[in-house]
Amino acid sequence: MQVYEGAMYEISTKLEILDSEFQVRFSHNPIHHMERRLKSINSILGKLERKELPLTVESIKDNLFDVAGIRVICNYRDDVYSVSNYLSAQNDIQVLRVKDYIKNPKQNGYRSLHVIYAVPVFLSSGPHYTPVEVQFRTIAMEFWATLEHKIKYKKKIADPESVSAELKSCADLINEIDHRMQSLRRRTID
Ligand code: GTP
Ligand code: MG
Repeated sequence: MQVYEGAMYEISTKLEILDSEFQVRFSHNPIHHMERRLKSINSILGKLERKELPLTVESIKDNLFDVAGIRVICNYRDDVYSVSNYLSAQNDIQVLRVKDYIKNPKQNGYRSLHVIYAVPVFLSSGPHYTPVEVQFRTIAMEFWATLEHKIKYKKKIADPESVSAELKSCADLINEIDHRMQSLRRRTID
């Protein structure tokens, strides 16, 4: 967990540096805020059990890429892509996997860009390449994902099909507003 925590801090420092550079160069902060978390031992074990994988440290290293996670909430849609592209271009880290749920939203309406990076954490024994899952999204996407998560885990949902359809419709409306806010942004000059 100490190595995963180191990897998480390395990536979040890189993101903070990019954000402050944007402020200096363009007078604009692309990142609204960030959230970081390490998966708890219980949810690590739960996930290994669900996937019917062995409950060993080796198995965690080989199969779980979201032990360290960062959520980057950006102001505008363009910010999501510029921040993630600048981070991915840094040559001391590797991009292991990209899932673009903004270009290809999930059926339920979920939108976010998921990138798994591997970063070297230097220990006394040398570099340990460690994965970190980064979810990039706009404030609007965050608004939907947070509430959808709360609603989805309610024990009793009356008429689940219409709730899903309504959530999907909200996601599409929010997406339209994200595009309109982006257009407004493009009409302004810093
Ligand atoms: P798992 O990590 O096992 O779920 O598989 P995966 O890594 O293939 O999943 P994926 O990259 O699609 O999503 C991982 C994370 O994205 C989840 O743990 C959530 O934080 C977030 N996420 C994905 N789908 C949804 C969704 O429909 N609603 C919300 N609120 N969050 C989602
Ligand atoms: Mg995952």
